[in-house]
Amino acid sequence: MHILVTGGAGFIGSNLVHFLLEHRPDCHLTVLDSLTYAGCRQNLARWEGDPRFRFVEGSITDPQAVDLAMQGARTCLHLAAETHVDRSIHDGAQFIATNVGGTQVLLDGARRHELERFVLVSTDEVYGSIPEGSFLETDPLCPSSPYSASKAGADLLALAHHHTYGTPVLITRCTNNFGPYQYPEKLIPFFLSQAMQGHELPVYGDGLQVRDWIDVEDHCEALLQVLEKGSPGEVYNVGAGHEVTNLEITQTLLDLLGKPQSLIRHVQDRPGHDRRYSVDTTRLRALGWKPRHEFRETLERTVDWYRRNQAWWEDLRRKREEYQKFYEQQYAGRLGGG
Ligand code: NAD
Ligand code: DAU
Repeated sequence: MHILVTGGAGFIGSNLVHFLLEHRPDCHLTVLDSLTYAGCRQNLARWEGDPRFRFVEGSITDPQAVDLAMQGARTCLHLAAETHVDRSIHDGAQFIATNVGGTQVLLDGARRHELERFVLVSTDEVYGSIPEGSFLETDPLCPSSPYSASKAGADLLALAHHHTYGTPVLITRCTNNFGPYQYPEKLIPFFLSQAMQGHELPVYGDGLQVRDWIDVEDHCEALLQVLEKGSPGEVYNVGAGHEVTNLEITQTLLDLLGKPQSLIRHVQDRPGHDRRYSVDTTRLRALGWKPRHEFRETLERTVDWYRRNQAWWEDLRRKREEYQKFYEQQYAGRLGGG
C-alpha cells in the first residue's frame, strides 16, 4: 500500500505518519507539505532515510507538486489545511485558497492518477454548534467561522466529486484532538506554554464552551479504519464522547503543572464562538473502531511531552510575531508573554 499524506508535517499529520509506519510496516508513504508556519519537518526526522518514506515539499494548490506527490500512490489521506479558527477570523483568504482551492486540485489529481481511495479529513465544526444531543452525518452543515466554512466547502466539493465523477471519496469529521506536536496556538499547547512561562491564560468569555476531546492517536486509528474499511461516498463522524468545558481543562492543566489558578484571565469572547460541539459516532464504531485512550491519561502524557520538549514549542512561538500582533489587538492586549 502506498499512501499520500497531505499535511504530514503538521500536528495530526505527523502523528499519523508515525502511526501508519509503526502499525502498517509494509506501507509506503509520501508526505506532501508546503511547510507553512504550522508545518515542521523536524516532526518527521526519525523517518528520513527510511526507504518507505518520501517527503515532497510543495503546495496542494500546485497541480505539478500534486502530480509529483501522487506518483506511485494508490490512496490519499488529505489533511493539509489552514486550521486555526482565530487566524481565519483575522484573514480568511488563505483558508479559502488552501482548504477549498487545494482540495479541488487534489481531487482532480485523484481522478488523473485513478486513486483507489481519497479520505478527506474534515471537522465536526462544519455542523456548527449544538446545544444538546449529537450531530449525525446526515445533518445539514451550518459552519460559523471562515475556517469551518472553508472546511465545509472542501467537504461538499469532495462529495460532489464522488457524485459526479465517481471519485472514491470518504469524509471524516472529527472533534478536537490533543497530544504531542500540536502547534502552540491551539488551546491546550498554548495554555501549557503560557503557564510554563508564568504568563496568563486567556479564557474566552465565560469559558463554559464545550468541546469533545480525542487523543490524536485514536483519530489516527479512525483514519486508518476508514481508509481500509469505509465505503466510498460515505461520511464518518469521529469523536471520543469526552465533553469538557474550556474552563475545566484550563484548571486541570494548571493543577497538573503545579501552577496557581490565578493565572486564568477571562478575556473578550471569540467572535461567532460555537458553544458546543458533539457528534454521534455510531457509524464509525460499526467499522470496529473505538477510542482506546482515557482523557486524563492523555492529558498527563501531553503535559509531560510539552515539559520535555520546551525547545520545540519555544522555537515555534518565536516565529509567530505577526499573528501575535493580531492576537493582542483582538484580545485587547490583555495577555502576558509572546
Ligand atoms: P496543523 O495546522 O497542525 O497542520 C496543517 C499542515 O498542513 C501543516 O504541516 C502545513 O504546513 C500543511 N499545509 C498548510 N497549507 C498547505 C498547502 N497549501 N499545501 C501543503 N501543505 C499545507 O493542522 P492539524 O491540526 O494537524 O489538522 C490537520 C487536518 O485535520 C486539517 O485538515 C484540519 O482541518 C483537520 N482537523 C483537525 C482537528 C484538530 O483538532 N486539530 C480536528 C478535526 C479535523
Ligand atoms: O473541533 C475540531 C476543531 O478543533 C478543528 O477543526 C480545528 O482545526 C481546531 O483548531 C479546533 O478548533 P477550536 O476552535 O475548537 O480549537 P482551539 O484550540 O482554537 O480552541 C478550543 C476552545 O478553547 C475554543 O472554545 C476556544 C477556546 N480558547 C482557545 C484559545 C486559543 C480560549 O478560550 N482561549 C484561547 O486562547
